[in-house]
Amino acid sequence: MKTKIIKIDSDNILPDQLEEAVEILKQGGLVAFPTETVYGLGADGLNKEASRKIYEAKGRPSDNPLILHIAHLGALKELTIDCPEIGYQLAEAFWPGPLTMIFHKSEIVPYSATGGLDTVAIRMPSHPIAYELIRQTRAYIAAPSANISGRPSPTKAEHVIEDMDGRIDMIIDGGSVEIGLESTIIDITGPVPVLLRPGYITVPMIEAVVGKIAVDKAVLSTISDPSIVPKAPGMKYKHYAPKGQLTIYEGNNEAVVQAINKIAGEKQEEGYKVGIIATDETFDAYSYGTVKRIGSRSDEDTIANRLFDILRSFDKEGTEFIYTESFESNQLGQAIMNRLLKAAGYHKVTV
Ligand code: TXA
Ligand code: MG
Repeated sequence: MKTKIIKIDSDNILPDQLEEAVEILKQGGLVAFPTETVYGLGADGLNKEASRKIYEAKGRPSDNPLILHIAHLGALKELTIDCPEIGYQLAEAFWPGPLTMIFHKSEIVPYSATGGLDTVAIRMPSHPIAYELIRQTRAYIAAPSANISGRPSPTKAEHVIEDMDGRIDMIIDGGSVEIGLESTIIDITGPVPVLLRPGYITVPMIEAVVGKIAVDKAVLSTISDPSIVPKAPGMKYKHYAPKGQLTIYEGNNEAVVQAINKIAGEKQEEGYKVGIIATDETFDAYSYGTVKRIGSRSDEDTIANRLFDILRSFDKEGTEFIYTESFESNQLGQAIMNRLLKAAGYHKVTV
């Protein structure tokens, strides 16, 4: 399949610019598009055959459900049953934006989109291209991250091209995304809301709106524990992983730098290609391998934004061992550490 790539300026979408993408989606085809979190791989969410194509293009296990993307609140009435009041409160506070909620699904939502579950994940994205695409298609767009299953999520069109060229109908290049980590997921089908995946919308931000919430055990776990099965099916798979072996070093800054320098020096000596993820604060202190700067410790937005791009660039360079510092796990740091731990297969050294 030949993949058509079109460039659109998110701040200036011309009236007919999305026409072809809309047509492809209506015909049951696949279009990758930018959202504020990561690039999504879109298809008509109520069309079973179109969802099947998503799983095929991504190489995604079919029990891993998709998120339906909507552009107006009325969609909740059509796609869900028993939508609780807090659903509307959270929508009011965070939509359009990087929050996904899990609801009881209505009849019109096919099991092919929910991985056989009776619940459905819904998000209203704020990115102008995503919003316009959904609005003009007049459909609910199922969209997982537009990466091959298991690889880091795409934060730039070139990442999507790396993974999806030749596998889908169209890629809309709308430049780099704003956030760089996938949406926060919260399950509101039970008596207490449960955080299933941390993201840009943090626990304190949600609690400020609806009071105390619970956090799925799998989100808090810092070790690989087979007895803990995450409630978001997708979170159980090896994910976000670069091809090289990633190890996280945790402890006081100086000790971490020293330990990473030691192991990086040894691996380089043995002839391996070594990479280090450094912060602005420590960048100059590393003396081996390829050192990449992820941003200042005081600027978690930038760290979140660069993480997947850095992991992918190490892949491109054929890096075999990657070492990274760890980050505070409150606020946005919770999402950053969650993705890092999964990317590292929970390989963590405390010094
Ligand atoms: O930011 C995002 O959410 C991006 C953009 C494109 O919107 N999408 C995204 O989709 O990250 P995906 O498919 O890569 O991740 C969706 C996650 C998976 O872990 C999946 O298991 C979980 O949401 N999920 C979907 N439906 C669910 C449900 N009914 N119950 C529990 N988890 C669900
Ligand atoms: Mg994904």
